[in-house]
Amino acid sequence: MTSLAEKLAPENIKKLIPYQSARRIGGSGRLWLNANELEQPLLFKRHQSELHRYPDFLPQDIAAVYQAYCHTSQPTLAVRGADEAIDLVIRTFCQPGRDSIVTCSPTYAMYQFCAESFSVTTIDCPLRANDFSLDVEQVVNAAKQAKVVFLCSPNNPTGQPLGRENIISVLEQTAQHSLVVVDEAYIEFELAESVVDLIERYPHLIVIRTLSKAFGLAALRCGFILSSPSVMDFIARLVPPYPMPDSSSEIVLHALSPQGLKKVASHTRTLIETRDQFVSAIRHLPWIENVYPSATNFVLIRTQAGINLFDYLVQHGVVTRNQGHEAALKHCVRITIGSAQTMQEVSEIICNFSDVLTPSTER
Ligand SMILES: Cc1ncc(COP(=O)(O)O)c(C=O)c1O
Repeated sequence: MTSLAEKLAPENIKKLIPYQSARRIGGSGRLWLNANELEQPLLFKRHQSELHRYPDFLPQDIAAVYQAYCHTSQPTLAVRGADEAIDLVIRTFCQPGRDSIVTCSPTYAMYQFCAESFSVTTIDCPLRANDFSLDVEQVVNAAKQAKVVFLCSPNNPTGQPLGRENIISVLEQTAQHSLVVVDEAYIEFELAESVVDLIERYPHLIVIRTLSKAFGLAALRCGFILSSPSVMDFIARLVPPYPMPDSSSEIVLHALSPQGLKKVASHTRTLIETRDQFVSAIRHLPWIENVYPSATNFVLIRTQAGINLFDYLVQHGVVTRNQGHEAALKHCVRITIGSAQTMQEVSEIICNFSDVLTPSTER
């Protein structure tokens, strides 16, 4: 039976033969003169990895430890951050000037950005205005016109998971026509919401993950794509020949070791406590309309109209994210959760705000 991925992949991708890099071709021998590298290290000779040689063409050891971490045997691909994963999915399955994706605003802006940069249209199915929940019916209807649906769960910038049951409902009703990407960049803060275990049941599901958030390794640029063999067969054709620098690979393996994972789990628990304490300290303020429930390492705060929290915090040296430019997020500021000490300081600054209210200049 033809898979959905096979039906959706454009002809040029189906015909594409992956670039045959020197590492992919491999071989055996004594003198390696096949990749136009320097034969001996020149600079940074004492560095752990051999910087003069190209890295592995696909770091299989990293994929294997990540699969173990996710308790899955489904194909897993390490890429340069979740952002590259988003771009790869769009470029693999969408045709410029012809195809569309579905997004659910307010959400992570890179889905639309990557689509637009590739002349792919975005159909927006906004989250419900009152509680930022997913409108499953609207998404399923829009998906009939689109190749890929992007769901961000937990969602950035609203902070809430979209709900496993809702995602299952979308998956059930899209199996014949569209791929469904679930971006789990923040999933470590609410692991029970992950849908990785559903890939086997729904081969049109693609899960995107990253080490930039709970793992604290944003500078490494390491993300993952997990999906069924039928989908991965096409995505893997587009992966650049050397997706992961050797020096990053070493650190990733260390991060995903049992000790690394234990440290991440314990730090995540602490961060969640800090987040909840911060929310308790500020939610009662009369000019704060809502502190939205969060399953992430940030909180979204809506103030009353005319309150300029963002500028006030900048004046106190605290840089946050002003979300007010989006219609659904008028008077909203997104604050990343830092250390307990930092959040104590920030909550004190916020609590003192009542005295110095200034007119809003949202941008
Ligand atoms: C929802 C979401 N997806 C993906 C990314 C990008 O992650 P990465 O650093 O792995 O490219 C971010 C970063 O903020 C994000 O919020």
